[in-house]
Amino acid sequence: MNNSVKFWDKTAENYSQQPIADEAAYQKKLQVTREYFKPDMSVLEFGCGTGSTAIVHAPYVKHIRAIDFSSNMIKIARGKAEAKNINNITFEQLTIEELTVADETFDVVLGLGILHLLENKKEVISKVHKILKPGGVFVTSTACLGDTMKWFKGIASIGVFLGLIPLVKVFTRKELENNLIDAGFTIDYHWQPNKSTRKGVFKLKGVFIVAKKA
Ligand SMILES: C[S@@+](CC[C@H](N)C(=O)[O-])C[C@H]1O[C@@H](n2cnc3c(N)ncnc32)[C@H](O)[C@@H]1O
Repeated sequence: MNNSVKFWDKTAENYSQQPIADEAAYQKKLQVTREYFKPDMSVLEFGCGTGSTAIVHAPYVKHIRAIDFSSNMIKIARGKAEAKNINNITFEQLTIEELTVADETFDVVLGLGILHLLENKKEVISKVHKILKPGGVFVTSTACLGDTMKWFKGIASIGVFLGLIPLVKVFTRKELENNLIDAGFTIDYHWQPNKSTRKGVFKLKGVFIVAKKA
């Protein structure tokens, strides 16, 4: 098990208890996402965490396949969906890298709070493009640390080695947008909330993007 999986497994219970840092921004992102949904749609969410967002969106689509590499996250997510009587989500412990599905399977792919945690962001973005149907959308919310915390790059590897933080990659919003465009997406919607989701030196500003496959 790599250090990032260990980190997220250890964090899962605490993560599920944390209040949403910026409720207004979260609600706006849910609302914007929902405008792309239709009742017959198949959705993939990767890095679904404890399933909160999938559970909120589930009534608006046909099915959500929600994956996360942390077994503890998935366990909590399954419990929450069961408690709310939501039965059109399939939660699975799986990495996005290991996921194998036919091309053009999903109408919408959600990758929320995860692209900056991937070793291989570009490959994952290309994979998402492949598995989306034509006209499908990739909804992302990503901490672009290269815009606010470039210094973090220098110390990140020590924190990962010590198991204090998960793998975190530092890149700018522009770099992320270029990766999406290079993979064949067009940027359909873009929003950066004013407020950081953290105080002090850790200024995590999430960039919310809806990228469309032609
Ligand atoms: C910051 S949390 C975000 C959770 C949720 N999407 C949210 O917005 O609250 C990142 C999640 O991604 C998962 N994760 C990180 N890398 C992953 C990978 N390569 N494949 C699948 N899940 C991954 C972690 O286990 C964790 O639950």
